Amino acid sequence: MKLRKVLAIAMASMMVFGLTACGGNDAAPAEAPAEEAAPAEEEAAPVEEETPADDAADATEAATEDAEAAADAAGAGGNIGVCIYKFDDAFMTTYRNALQEILEGKGYTVTFMDGKNDQAEQNNQINNFIAQKVDALIINPVMTSAADQIIATVKDAGVPTVLINREPTADQMSAYDKLVYVGCDARQSGTMQGELILDTPNKGDINGDGKVSYIMIQGDPENVDAQYRTEFSVKALTDAGIEVEELDLQRGDWDRNKGQEIAQNDLAKFGDDIEVIFCNNDDMAIGALQAIQAAGRKVNEDIYLVGVDALDAALNEVAAGNMTGTVLNDAQGQAEGAVQAMEDLLGGKTYAAGEQSIYVDYVKVTPDNVSDFQ
Ligand code: BGC
Repeated sequence: MKLRKVLAIAMASMMVFGLTACGGNDAAPAEAPAEEAAPAEEEAAPVEEETPADDAADATEAATEDAEAAADAAGAGGNIGVCIYKFDDAFMTTYRNALQEILEGKGYTVTFMDGKNDQAEQNNQINNFIAQKVDALIINPVMTSAADQIIATVKDAGVPTVLINREPTADQMSAYDKLVYVGCDARQSGTMQGELILDTPNKGDINGDGKVSYIMIQGDPENVDAQYRTEFSVKALTDAGIEVEELDLQRGDWDRNKGQEIAQNDLAKFGDDIEVIFCNNDDMAIGALQAIQAAGRKVNEDIYLVGVDALDAALNEVAAGNMTGTVLNDAQGQAEGAVQAMEDLLGGKTYAAGEQSIYVDYVKVTPDNVSDFQ
């Protein structure tokens, strides 16, 4: 855990940090955040003119200066409101704890609200924070489809806002220049899940029938993470020329119990035909593992199982050979990035349209490197 934190912090600082500012859900990486609140034209310098090494060094130096200047300007110790879509989410609990430690460590007064997976409830919480005149907001939206309304509300109140974990479109974010999204590009995690299967001795085709037969246990499909992980995990296989067969796709809403139920029913229905279980997150994968074990199947021998997040429980199962692998969804790095972005906003930075998404990289976790993350 310690080393994982150190790694995450090192990665986070490499990123601002190698934090890549991108256009919403667009894949093309753009340059790192500009040093000051610059007009859009200046920030939009073409990427090709910079060498990656120079870029990274400049970005790190500029970001460090930015962070210090911004913290001074904001006078760390302000009031921050944080809205989480629901506290009862394994990954968001890790993320929330990381945010709390960082913000309180920097002297901010921070209040966390549980949206209880209810957008109306979260809207009230946002309005209350605004009425209390918080200095900045960090919001994990309940529904990305509500982003327009959330953005209009914070813009109206003029509160600098960092959105996390559930990414709106670049177009939606462009409505407010004191707004930024910090998260990950979910396509990358899906691709890595596919690669974990490609890296197995039989590339996922355990029964040798020339195709990989899988079930997909999806998160909440309203969430772009669920959409992209579902699509890109399978795309990694088909891009590699592998034939695939989808036996089932069901929403498990990021929830362990639902993951267990779906896997249990599918194992009863499809039996040995299932060669791979893709889960959009680890919590559902842990549930699926319970069903796999109850059905007398053995991961990595007669079935493969992959998740995303690198929750502690999943890391233990990867180490024990009970999960084929997972993908680190770097809560610590994202929390560091969110606080950095918040301080930049408090320091007066604004974001040009198309440069309002800041991505932290995912990392593949296998038995070979799992000890680095535990
Ligand atoms: C995580 C899930 C989590 C979801 C919440 C995803 O990025 O992988 O574990 O439930 O975010 O929005």
